[in-house]
Amino acid sequence: MADTPAPVVEESESQVVPFAPRADAAPPPRVLAVANQKGGVGKTTTAINLGTALAAIGERVLIIDLDPQGNASTGLGIDRRSRRFSTYDVLIGEAPLRDSILATAVPRLHIAPSTMDLSGLELEIGTARDRAFRLRTALGPLNSSRAAGADYTYVLVDCPPSLNLLTVNAMAAANAILVPLQCEFFALEGLTQLIKTVDQVKSTLNPDLTIHGIVLTMYDARNKLSSQVVADVRQFMGGKVYDTMIPRNVRISEAPSYGQPVLVYDLKCVGSEAYLRLATEIIKREKELRAG
Ligand SMILES: Nc1ncnc2c1ncn2[C@@H]1O[C@H](COP(=O)(O)OP(=O)(O)OP(=O)(O)O)[C@@H](O)[C@H]1O
Ligand SMILES: [Mg+2]
Repeated sequence: MADTPAPVVEESESQVVPFAPRADAAPPPRVLAVANQKGGVGKTTTAINLGTALAAIGERVLIIDLDPQGNASTGLGIDRRSRRFSTYDVLIGEAPLRDSILATAVPRLHIAPSTMDLSGLELEIGTARDRAFRLRTALGPLNSSRAAGADYTYVLVDCPPSLNLLTVNAMAAANAILVPLQCEFFALEGLTQLIKTVDQVKSTLNPDLTIHGIVLTMYDARNKLSSQVVADVRQFMGGKVYDTMIPRNVRISEAPSYGQPVLVYDLKCVGSEAYLRLATEIIKREKELRAG
């Protein structure tokens, strides 16, 4: 029976030693997990471009690439050879998060890159008691540096298209989940499963976890089905759906092959404008959450 992997979400894991921040440390960043177990819905595109937009309006942003595909790292122009330490090294406990972080071409936007090694993580730490808390533990000391401007105000975690141990680590470490939802016929199908997992993580690993919001992606105003999906999702999820929708925009899909966020590739295109609006809306929602 030794080979049976332990369940990913399990009670009794609250014995993780809490990290004690230094008295003069900056406040911890807001950690948002960009998650949806459905593939190709715009998670990575949203992490890259929302991260860039937040940085453009003055936030200090860290993207954590938690997908073995490494699309967020590649899409931000991070060469594979420069990934000295990756999120794999961080999660197996061989490097502090700080040592994996690389600057990007965008001021105030940094990334902790991933490599394919990450796909083996579940096998390696699947039976460890603290397996679901590896990211949370790694994030603990992030803002404890005394160097000016070395702290982050937002951390965006780009999750893989699965509800596996990596996504559970992101959910256990996050303040809230940001769900990209593609405007297509089956959009709502996976959402129920995702909400169930969020509830499960909330009741076992992270009682304060909330859904920050749902962002509708690849919206096509000329397509009747797209508008119907928008109406259905807004009816089903109400105020959780951001007002901003990300349109289907060819510039958004071209930008990653140049290793650039769309805001750098073409600042004036409708895709860039939408991600800037989304960043503003998220900051506004954050203020409301804090005031509440
Ligand atoms: N608004 C958009 N307009 C046009 N193309 C888009 C848009 N958003 C994403 N894409 C394209 O759709 C594809 C899937 O997007 P992305 O990689 O962001 O999804 P994902 O959810 O991260 O995928 P995975 O589940 O594989 O990680 C990519 O080729 C991307 O360039
Ligand atoms: Mg992705």
